Amino acid sequence: MDVVVEELPPILPAEHIIAINKPKRDLHTERDYSWNGLEFRLPPGVFHPGETSRMLHKWLLDGEIETKGRVYAAMGAGAGVEAVAAGLRGAREIYALDIHPESVAVTAQHYTEHVGPRPGTDFHPLVSDLFDAVPDGTRFDVVTFNPPAVSQTVSDDPDVIRNVCVGASLVTRFFDELVDRDLLAEDGEVLIIVSNTADLRTVVGHAVERGLVARVRYRHDWDDGVITFLFGLTRKAA
Ligand SMILES: C[S@@+](CC[C@H](N)C(=O)[O-])C[C@H]1O[C@@H](n2cnc3c(N)ncnc32)[C@H](O)[C@@H]1O
Repeated sequence: MDVVVEELPPILPAEHIIAINKPKRDLHTERDYSWNGLEFRLPPGVFHPGETSRMLHKWLLDGEIETKGRVYAAMGAGAGVEAVAAGLRGAREIYALDIHPESVAVTAQHYTEHVGPRPGTDFHPLVSDLFDAVPDGTRFDVVTFNPPAVSQTVSDDPDVIRNVCVGASLVTRFFDELVDRDLLAEDGEVLIIVSNTADLRTVVGHAVERGLVARVRYRHDWDDGVITFLFGLTRKAA
């Protein structure tokens, strides 16, 4: 069913958001991350995947979000787990996009280690502010984004802000670029995973204003006030 924007949960109270999003690990150290039997290195500043990331990664690997044979963009690639999942799944093209050069570099390393050269799959790791580095004329069948959309500034560390709490404006700009540059294939789908720690009504309302149709693909209640949604956004049927 299409989303009724006004019925989406409002933003959680600021103090609640700040309490649950306080940075827990030291982002400025070398860390490790294991996923699906694979090892990922997290250089300083690279996002440590959380529960929300893991949902996305599982869906990409098991095909709930299908990239096989498709042109896929992992927006905000982080450590590169989405790119690796799509490579293992057999995507036709993978764009791994992140504004953070170290994230793109480590994504490329992880892709080489865990996927390697594959006939029929092209991999494009790009340092990019949203879609800036994507050539005109590119058309994506699938785009995923676990955006740093938390609505409260939970730290004054620029790396924490980039990873967690840039806010809704980043996601509205993401939709603007996608629509203005006609980057979504006719039957393509954009999947964003966001919770009520973000301004859901602004984010989804903007996508709808820009002509996309929004559906709830998945909803998870964490029993602490936080509700996470996977929204699927498509073009309106002609
Ligand atoms: C919440 S993390 C998600 C990382 C990874 N996708 C995951 O789920 O584990 C958000 C990512 O978005 C990236 N990011 C922030 N602003 C961006 C922008 N303007 N353009 C591209 N990527 C951006 C951050 O560097 C970070 O890697």
